[in-house]
Amino acid sequence: MLTGFANHFATEAVPGALPHGRNSPQRPAFGLYAEQLSGTAFTAPRSENRRTWLYRLRPSAAHPPYRLALDLVANHAPPPPPNRLRWDPRGWPDAPTDFHDSVLPMLHCGDAEALTGAMVATYAATADMDARAFVNADGETLLIPVEGRLDVLTELGRMTVHPREVACVPRGVRHAVRLPDGRARGYLVENRGALFRLPDLGPIGANGLANPRDFVTSPAWFEDDERPYELVQKFMGKLWTTTLDRSPFDVVAWHGNLAPWVYDLTRFNTMGTVSYDHPDPSIYTVLTSPSDTPGRANADFVLFPPRWLVGEDTFRPPWFHRNVMSEAMGLIDGQYDAKAGGFAPGGLSLHNLMSGHGPDVATWEKASAAELKPHKVDGGYAFMVESCWPYRATEYALNHAQPDYDAAWADFPKAVLP
Ligand SMILES: [Fe+2]
Repeated sequence: MLTGFANHFATEAVPGALPHGRNSPQRPAFGLYAEQLSGTAFTAPRSENRRTWLYRLRPSAAHPPYRLALDLVANHAPPPPPNRLRWDPRGWPDAPTDFHDSVLPMLHCGDAEALTGAMVATYAATADMDARAFVNADGETLLIPVEGRLDVLTELGRMTVHPREVACVPRGVRHAVRLPDGRARGYLVENRGALFRLPDLGPIGANGLANPRDFVTSPAWFEDDERPYELVQKFMGKLWTTTLDRSPFDVVAWHGNLAPWVYDLTRFNTMGTVSYDHPDPSIYTVLTSPSDTPGRANADFVLFPPRWLVGEDTFRPPWFHRNVMSEAMGLIDGQYDAKAGGFAPGGLSLHNLMSGHGPDVATWEKASAAELKPHKVDGGYAFMVESCWPYRATEYALNHAQPDYDAAWADFPKAVLP
């Protein structure tokens, strides 16, 4: 186990595989091939620069041409109405479906070609990916399980991801997902912009929110499997397929600071008010992908975990607001404290920029009348992917939204002036 966030790691599955003193020796040990995987531009400042050197049985370049498999861009709908939208959780597929085939894009923002924005998708898988791998050229992938563990095989180690954990596979890293519990469902977020990193902490100080040591990276692992292996690549919104004459998981050793990781959300060190008022939800930022404008995120991954509420003379649930940022929300388990119903684990909601939202009537009435003793919100884990780019719902998402979400904000009593 290797821990830390974007530290420099060095690992070898076979002693002697990792070269010392140089990245690309003339003849790496055992005839391995040296290959650099760049997560940032070569010339990115050192504090931003992320790359890893791989030492593998064959170069990843050795593959036949890709053929078009599916045009996900065609699934984009025209700009959606500015209405708030919400979705029930998906059901399980009727026929055995592996993780990759089960990924269903719901929301897109930004542009893969411009290296901006994000995609929010759900998955509901019932079969292992066997002799089949996926590589995403459009962005890094954040996996957010709701039910069932994921065994994620990657070029840079294997990791098991449980519900209440999240995992990240860097852009360009080949990976496959197997299902130790037989089936699994959850969310997948593709971040097309700058790499996710821990947010600056400002006056919070050196500790708090997500701590670097809780990000776990896996040691080198490989398989020497010469069965035909399908490799599907996502590139500029389309899926392409090719067949390798071997497993792509043949990296025997690697070193660098670009690697998959797993993070346990229960380790999040939640901050909040100890006097009055409700801080902006940015206080719950786990990871941020900055845009070119300081303070304006391409994508923030924000967590609403169990936490104590102690604010005096304060409406404690999230307040009513309209936001210049666009908010996609999911629920891992439990119940989100701003809604009395209609938002189930595995469901999704969208509040695009300037869409007024906040608590529903039942939550507002209850919170307005509550006795303000210290109270623990212990209902579970909700998350948000907030972006400066407005989201477009896919055609599937538009056709499957709840028909009556606006009713959550109907029937508020009118304020009575003196
Ligand atoms: Fe909001």
